[in-house]
Amino acid sequence: MITPADFQELVRTRRVARQFLPTPVDSELLVALLLDAQHSPSNCNTQPWVVHIVSGAARDLLSNALPAADERGDLTPDFEFDMQSYTGVHAQRAQFSGRACYEAINVARDDQQGRLAAMQHNLSFFDAPHVALLFMPHIHDYVRSASDVGMYAQTFLLSLHARGLAGIPQTLLGLYARTIREVLGIREEMKLMFGISFGYADPQSLANFVAVGRAPLSESVIQHC
Ligand SMILES: Cc1cc2nc3c(=O)[nH]c(=O)nc-3n(C[C@H](O)[C@H](O)[C@H](O)COP(=O)(O)O)c2cc1C
Repeated sequence: MITPADFQELVRTRRVARQFLPTPVDSELLVALLLDAQHSPSNCNTQPWVVHIVSGAARDLLSNALPAADERGDLTPDFEFDMQSYTGVHAQRAQFSGRACYEAINVARDDQQGRLAAMQHNLSFFDAPHVALLFMPHIHDYVRSASDVGMYAQTFLLSLHARGLAGIPQTLLGLYARTIREVLGIREEMKLMFGISFGYADPQSLANFVAVGRAPLSESVIQHC
């Protein structure tokens, strides 16, 4: 029986990893992770997620194609991502977490090369042996299905953590949606929300387990009695 203390520990100690070991995830374990995520709730139980797990030679093909697309400036997101649209407290939180991540790996504020390299590390999946690419079909304005995919992602991340693995959701991968579809032979109608690189976190890496904290409840919750 899972105790509240177990659950609290699981949720509050999960962190994204940004450096993985090459060790692949055993196929039985992978199925268990996917079955956990499959139990995520969704609008009317529609389960609109379509998940491509990319490993081995396909993973290597993609990790070559993405930096090449980046070099060509071939950005083809299915859904726009504009950091400028985050203002006020949201921009502050983003700056704070960005700073914490760069400080953890000793990249100085004015080290543009170091920052670029850290960003580009996304495109080789932070050396993870697997990436889960979360697609969904066209359903109205995508908002309901996007929230379902978010539910799926969180269950997957928690399942990874519970089983001694780690993952990182990556909006950045979604910026290369067309390249990813072309490399993997995925139909144009399937839209890419984001990817989750996953595997075993490198316990020696400074990039891992950076604690970025959370806002106090008073900034997020309004109670009505
Ligand atoms: C939907 C989503 C997309 C994200 N995209 C990226 C990304 O492209 N690159 C990256 O390094 N981190 C990405 N992150 C990781 C966040 O920066 C991280 O979850 C946040 O700083 C909180 O850290 P924690 O998950 O370790 O608590 C993403 C997280 C989410 C939920």
